[in-house]
Amino acid sequence: MPGYKLAIDGPAGSGKSTISSLIAKKLGWTHIDTGAMYRAVTLQAIELNIDLNNEASYHFLETSNIHYDNNRIYIDDRDVTEAIRNEAVTNNVSLVSSFPYVRKKLVELQKNAAQKGNIVMDGRDIGTVVLPNADLKIFLTANVEERAQRRHNEQLKKGKTSEMSKVIEDILKRDQKDSTRKESPLRIASDAILLDTTYLTIEEVVNKIIELTDKKEN
Ligand code: DC
Repeated sequence: MPGYKLAIDGPAGSGKSTISSLIAKKLGWTHIDTGAMYRAVTLQAIELNIDLNNEASYHFLETSNIHYDNNRIYIDDRDVTEAIRNEAVTNNVSLVSSFPYVRKKLVELQKNAAQKGNIVMDGRDIGTVVLPNADLKIFLTANVEERAQRRHNEQLKKGKTSEMSKVIEDILKRDQKDSTRKESPLRIASDAILLDTTYLTIEEVVNKIIELTDKKEN
């Protein structure tokens, strides 16, 4: 029997990546952060100095090798786990991920990576497009102030400067772009379970999802 597939979707700052990574650790499963893959493509595109607005420029994906290993993301053999969080990448990733060609390429990689199962995959279109047959689909939400506060704290913890009003503005902009794009917009799969994390701790969300996973297994 193929292993379990858990799909976790939600908007920026809903806690998807942190929560998915903790669930994977607790269950001994593999975690794939698909947002990190879109970020890696964006980083590579910026470095190659291509025209970011032209979908045809992304054909470098035919030969580039973006992959995940042990919670680290690589372009070919280069570990870009930290580099993909830079501001230029964050500002352009919504544009890059709006191109059907880019999505087609990454969805292929993601479907392949999920094949062996016992996997937690997080993103925007996992329950709807990448893993429509996932064993369990979760859609995480939190109000925008809480999501912005989390991003703000993250930045400060890294020793970076951060301004709350700017963080809120950026999150709203990205929500808008991610949910209104033509290709695979952010939306809740009809069979997903909606979980509002605004007033929950990370631990509470992790335990709740593991509980749901157990129920679905039996
Ligand atoms: O989760 P994140 O902030 O690292 O995601 C970065 C961007 O990638 C986000 O703005 C939308 C896009 N994305 C996507 O379009 N589809 C996914 N499955 C994951 C992320």
